[in-house]
Amino acid sequence: MPTAKVVFATITGNNEDCADIITEALEDLGVEVDETEISQTDAAELKDYDINVIVPYTYDEGALPEEGMDFFDDLAELDLSDKVFGVAGSGDTFYAEYYCLAVDKFSEAMTKAHAIQGAENLKINLAPESQEDLDRLDNFASSLVDKFNAQ
Ligand SMILES: Cc1cc2nc3c(=O)[nH]c(=O)nc-3n(C[C@H](O)[C@H](O)[C@H](O)COP(=O)(O)O)c2cc1C
Repeated sequence: MPTAKVVFATITGNNEDCADIITEALEDLGVEVDETEISQTDAAELKDYDINVIVPYTYDEGALPEEGMDFFDDLAELDLSDKVFGVAGSGDTFYAEYYCLAVDKFSEAMTKAHAIQGAENLKINLAPESQEDLDRLDNFASSLVDKFNAQ
């Protein structure tokens, strides 16, 4: 059974909701999942799982979550070359060019750590409520498992 780590950062709950939906979708696909909040997670823990998922919010014109900075910086020290990863996150399209920039920044950091991208960066506007959002989150989880199985 593949294992996955799902790490989220949230202030008002939208990204935790996204993380919960991804966790449930992965579990439905037979993955054993450990979901944790970013400030309570050591980046080195990612080495213990087959699939790594990061679900960050974006603040202040493209800024990363403040409480996730240590985790983000520590990614630069890691070699995650046999891991499949995906990054999903909720932001607000109101912020235009800064929309969900933390998703792109975490994705770049995971690529630099040599992890294998298993799903395209997924951006959700505010709460994951519409059927379309739920389908996109389910497809994100399926894509990660497909990539893991294809290795
Ligand atoms: C002060 C402030 C700044 C924000 N800046 C951005 C931003 O630059 N880009 C973006 O996509 N969303 C931005 N947002 C919107 C949040 O990312 C969005 O509400 C998100 O769903 C919050 O996630 P959370 O519920 O997990 O905390 C901002 C929100 C606030 C209150």
